[in-house]
Parts: sequence; C-alpha cells; structure tokens
Amino acid sequence: MGVSIKSAREIELMRESCKRLEYVHKELGNHIKPGISTYEINKIGERLIREQGGIPNFLNYNGYPAAICTSVNEEVVHGIPKKEVILKDGDIISLDAGLIYKGYHSDAARTHLVGNVSDEVKQLVEVTKQAFFEGIKYAKPGYHLHDISNAIDDYVSQFGYGIVRALVGHGIGTSLHEDPQIPNYRQKRRGVLLRAGMTLAIEPMINLGTWDVEFLDDDWTVVSKDNSPSAHYENTVLITESEPEILTLGNF
Ligand code: MF3
Ligand code: CO
Repeated sequence: MGVSIKSAREIELMRESCKRLEYVHKELGNHIKPGISTYEINKIGERLIREQGGIPNFLNYNGYPAAICTSVNEEVVHGIPKKEVILKDGDIISLDAGLIYKGYHSDAARTHLVGNVSDEVKQLVEVTKQAFFEGIKYAKPGYHLHDISNAIDDYVSQFGYGIVRALVGHGIGTSLHEDPQIPNYRQKRRGVLLRAGMTLAIEPMINLGTWDVEFLDDDWTVVSKDNSPSAHYENTVLITESEPEILTLGNF
C-alpha cells in the first residue's frame, strides 16, 4: 500500500475532525488534577468526543475497551482507564485520544503534569513535545519520511533518554492507521518521499530510562522495562507545499 494523498475535500474533512479533537484535548486537560480516576477521565473524554459529533475511534479498536488511553508514569501508551487508578501529586499522565468525523480520523496525545512534578520528569515531558517539533521541521515536500525520524532521534539522544522502538507513528485518514509507519529513531533508509496532501500522525514516545518496553498481560498496557517514567506527544499533521499544518493544534 502506498501513502494516500488527500484531495482538497478530504483535507477539509481532516481539518474538521482534528479541530474537534484539539478541543476535546483542551477541555480534558482542565480535569487533570490529583484525585481524579482514569475511569472518570475516559468518561469525560468520550462525552466530549460525542458532543463534538465525533465517534471514538479507539473504542473497540482491536478490542480496546475505552475511548481514551490513559497512561500513567511508567506506562508508555495504551493504559486502560480504571476506577482504581487515581492521579496523585507528582504523577504524569499521557492522554491519547482520537475521533472519526464524517469518516475521517484524527489522533493526538498530550502528556500532563499532575500537581508538582520533579524537574527531571518535567524535562522529559518538555523534550518529548519538542521532539515532535524537531521532527516536523522536515515534514515538507522534498524531504524523506525518515528525515523526520532522524531529527527526532538526534534531538532526544542528546538528553540520554530512551526512544521507544516497539511503537511508531503512522499515516491517517479514512483509517486510524494508514501507511507509512513513522519510527522515532534513526533509520538506515530514507523512507518515502514526502508529498503535499499526506496526513501523518507523528508521535514520539520517550522514556526517562531504557528504550525497551514490556506489554502487560491485560494485552494493552505498554510500560518501560525499567519502570522509568515515559512521555508521549502526538499531532495529526498535513504536508503542504510549504510549512506543515499541525491539524490538531492552533485552532483555539
Ligand atoms: N494513538 C494510538 C495510535 O496511534 C491509538 C491508540 S490504540 C487503541 O496507535 F487501540 F487504543 F485505539
Ligand atoms: Co497515533
């Protein structure tokens, strides 16, 4: 399968979907405080998605049981919301959310600080976000896909963090996961040539310690192997003839 190029009409629908998702993240972020459970966060997230006219695309995806992934501390991604997981001061939580609007998927993740977080972990969260912005400097026609991967690796490696390899970013459109896969670590090959009209979910997942991860036996939750804290930052991005358009950011 090649990488799909979206038409002008499809791009407009991607914008609409992504704008709604940005709003969901913005609202959901206001609820992140010590004392809230990840179950409640998911409930609010699902309600916000539906209020926006969206369908939660994660819910029932390969059997995933919720609308939002809530990954706390050493959980990298795909943390399952639970009544008994209650946020406490000093935690970090990565919220990954997506929706379908008029047939078009959006996908974005944010890592939030809960109360007072150590400087070391705060830096991890900031670097993970900045890694996305370093990567998209190359999200332009004329560059190749892996220029994005290499830029993320070069930036993150300076800090000695572990870049998660088991999970990658992806193309997105009428499906949540389309070609191409987008690794966040250095690649030997150049990858596909980027073209205007591609829509990509770029999502660095970075651990304070080792890059290696483990899958818990709930079949979903991915944790860092050394249980060090992990951060995640993701946006859906449109390649244009000039600067990339970050579809899940800057609408509000
Ligand atoms: N944002 C995740 C991704 O890019 C999607 C969550 S997986 C699901 O793959 F199963 F929860 F949907
Ligand atoms: Co994604």
